Amino acid sequence: MSRKPTMDGPRTTGLALDLSPGDDHYRAYVGPPRDYDLVSAMVFNLLTCIGLRQHHRVLDIGCGSLRVGRLLIPYLNQENYVGVEPNQWLVEDGIANEIGADLVKIKKPTFSFQASLAEFESPLDLDYAVAQSIFSHSGQDLVGQWLSQVSSHLKEEGALVATFLSDRQDFDGHGWIYPGCVKYRPETMADLAARSGLTFRVLDWAHPRQTWALFAKKDHDRSLIESGEITWNRFAARAMDS
Ligand SMILES: C[S@@+](CC[C@H](N)C(=O)[O-])C[C@H]1O[C@@H](n2cnc3c(N)ncnc32)[C@H](O)[C@@H]1O
Repeated sequence: MSRKPTMDGPRTTGLALDLSPGDDHYRAYVGPPRDYDLVSAMVFNLLTCIGLRQHHRVLDIGCGSLRVGRLLIPYLNQENYVGVEPNQWLVEDGIANEIGADLVKIKKPTFSFQASLAEFESPLDLDYAVAQSIFSHSGQDLVGQWLSQVSSHLKEEGALVATFLSDRQDFDGHGWIYPGCVKYRPETMADLAARSGLTFRVLDWAHPRQTWALFAKKDHDRSLIESGEITWNRFAARAMDS
């Protein structure tokens, strides 16, 4: 890791392969630095295999240092990426180290430096939302708040893909827990989803530590996640057919 003393450069640079999750570095803060590339690929590939196209609008909850945004922002059309992140320095270091200010100028992503969607008064009309490694640090109160807020900003055909740590018992604390992790029963996640008008389904999509799930609005097209594996070939066949 190296640090720049100037005000205009990133706070942190480099791959930080010797640092631990939660350390003060744009890659380490969001998870094990050795997995940074894998997590980017895992999320982008999941979204593109379940139907993401360039014209869709995507919310990245707790977008951190743009580990996912660095692939989504170039892929999506202008103004279609929304990143919400309370730690502004992570987004700034992500821009400086991973995508550059020019891409921000070209693609015009929206960033909100809060821990909620409170500043979005008009509906975001989202096709997809992503919460990668967010519910694994959230008390049930916070999971419930995020599901309710996201549900109100998703289109009726929209869906959230999110990760959680699955267990036989529920964590019973509140608020944001970091860098420690919390676990939930899938049934609890399903209950929380239902309270916000969302269906819940575990997804067969590998994650180094967590479980992927789909929280979908009622008109979401589930044809690419049901009756078989989630694969690029299934999506490609449908996209090329239409
Ligand atoms: C484990 S990191 C994951 C970052 C990103 N989703 C990724 O996969 O690269 C958790 C992120 O959530 C952000 N965060 C902190 N408080 C939050 C909250 N109340 N709600 C959502 N995200 C929060 C952290 O700053 C951090 O960037």
